Amino acid sequence: MKAIKSINRCLLTNAIFILLPLCLFSQDLIENPELDRKVKEFLEDNRYQWRDMNIPAIDGQLLFDIIVQNGYTRALEIGTSTGHSAIWIAWALSKTGGKLITIEISERRYNQALENFREAGLADYIDARLADAHELVPDLKGPFDFVFNDADKYWYKNYFIAVDPKLVVGGCFTAHNITERRSRYSAGQSEFLDYIRSLDNYKTIVNSSGNGVSISYKQSK
Ligand SMILES: C[S@@+](CC[C@H](N)C(=O)[O-])C[C@H]1O[C@@H](n2cnc3c(N)ncnc32)[C@H](O)[C@@H]1O
Repeated sequence: MKAIKSINRCLLTNAIFILLPLCLFSQDLIENPELDRKVKEFLEDNRYQWRDMNIPAIDGQLLFDIIVQNGYTRALEIGTSTGHSAIWIAWALSKTGGKLITIEISERRYNQALENFREAGLADYIDARLADAHELVPDLKGPFDFVFNDADKYWYKNYFIAVDPKLVVGGCFTAHNITERRSRYSAGQSEFLDYIRSLDNYKTIVNSSGNGVSISYKQSK
């Protein structure tokens, strides 16, 4: 009973945390039932086909909810792979009127992602770049209001430092495969998590429903 109460409290805190900046960005959502049908069909058909370190659907739904609930429109993803997370992000952006820049270094995965974006009907919402994110991220102009970081883990802190000046106040920086547990396999993620938590102008939680997503809202400059 105690455990259930504590889980409920945790879910409530997460929900409040995700919805908190809503008032800053509230707007009408764009309706496109035909696109919704196409994306849902694509996601359903490919549910068990993701083989390239792609996020689980539950994490995709989480990113979708954060974007839609906050009305974010200027998104960046680091680490496209074959495009599962980008599809969830771009689907959310189709409702807010936004666009995603996503970066991948592997040509094979990049090409597969392009095909997936077309098949899901979301290509118009995605600017996919074949590049080394170590070089491209510092050169991107921004501004961004949503970032999903899912590339090479040991570089997570560097990606954040490069993006931070381009993330608007009220914006959100998320990162994948984040846990509170420490091990030598997750040193890069821990280094990033410790760093972002040390900043007074970011409020961070870790959502552990799927593979672990840190969600950090920028509260001031
Ligand atoms: C965990 S996978 C991303 C999964 C993807 N977000 C999804 O859910 O479909 C990480 C990807 O980052 C790419 N990557 C690693 N280092 C990179 C770099 N320096 N620049 C760009 N992409 C990189 C890898 O090739 C890999 O495809």
